[in-house]
Amino acid sequence: MKYDTDQLEINKVQKSKIENVNFDNLVFGEVFTDHMFECDYENGQWQNPKIKPYGPIQLDPSAKVFHYGQAVFEGMKAYKDQDDRIWLFRPEENFKRINKSSARLAIPEFPEEFFFSGLEALLKLEKDWIKKGFGNSLYIRPFVIATEECVSANPSTKYKFMIICSPAQAYYSGEVRVQFSEKYSRAADGGVGAAKAAGNYAAQFYPTNLAKEAGFQQIIWTDANTHDYLEEAGTMNIFFRIGDTLITAPTSDRILDGVTRKSVIDLAKDLNIKVEIRRVPVSEVIEAARKGELKEIFGSGTATVINPIAGFGYKDEKFELPKMEDSYGKSFKDRLMKIQYNQAEDKHGWRHQVK
Ligand SMILES: Cc1ncc(COP(=O)(O)O)c(C=O)c1O
Repeated sequence: MKYDTDQLEINKVQKSKIENVNFDNLVFGEVFTDHMFECDYENGQWQNPKIKPYGPIQLDPSAKVFHYGQAVFEGMKAYKDQDDRIWLFRPEENFKRINKSSARLAIPEFPEEFFFSGLEALLKLEKDWIKKGFGNSLYIRPFVIATEECVSANPSTKYKFMIICSPAQAYYSGEVRVQFSEKYSRAADGGVGAAKAAGNYAAQFYPTNLAKEAGFQQIIWTDANTHDYLEEAGTMNIFFRIGDTLITAPTSDRILDGVTRKSVIDLAKDLNIKVEIRRVPVSEVIEAARKGELKEIFGSGTATVINPIAGFGYKDEKFELPKMEDSYGKSFKDRLMKIQYNQAEDKHGWRHQVK
């Protein structure tokens, strides 16, 4: 079915709340812009997309999202260059991924025309919320929830697709030390690990709290069957540099197909860095650390682009990573950000201008 983007209804706020926001002191994900995008699914079809003032939504307590967690989301960012142009980074990947996540959760796919017309109209309305400068961005959160008023355990007949936006500053999380998981799992074969399903994140909170009590900030999840192979972190894919080779786990039905991950792999190839996409045994990483061959571990994801890992723990042992002068992670971060902020050539065609 073809959806008509002229249907988009825009209802603007009377007065922006931007003046009340301190852009020099933003806590990630706490402040939202003036407007939001909303589109409901009913009678077998997505209806009436609208942009309206940001605010609470009303749902029946029996709405299926509250009972069965039928919900998926995305995370992407808009950037502003020195000439006030607005850019997205590979947004079609996020669009494809939210529909892939939806399909896995039995949620009807969202039409591409509605997604891009809604997103671009919203970003144009919120252009003043996107601040110039390396590291500043507007975090964009598209999501879908099941809204049917009924507690029977089967797929909802009604949904709400929304996009909300939150201004973000460069994110510095301090030194990150991770724990390799020995007991808990994030995802299993045949499960929903590859989907950005809301419940995947809730399920990580308890084991992550335990890891925090043990002095780590995050967990690197291992495969659920054996816990012998390193897979990904809670919101990042993970790369290991052993010698001068970069190694990362293949995507699968347990691992999210990260946009930053695939961009790092392409950049590494451009730079003639050897990349191996294969299973990563915990034993290989520990042995490399003992021999001094493990030079870097870093995470990749939209929130931080590249997040260096300072050390890790496994069973009762702790390992520290060297501080590299010629860090691959730092070089990828710099290159990716220059592309995102329109400061470098974009030979892969990853930038998308919002006009
Ligand atoms: C589980 C998980 N892995 C990896 C990533 C990184 O993906 P991307 O680079 O597309 O942000 C994310 C964040 O979206 C995530 O939630």
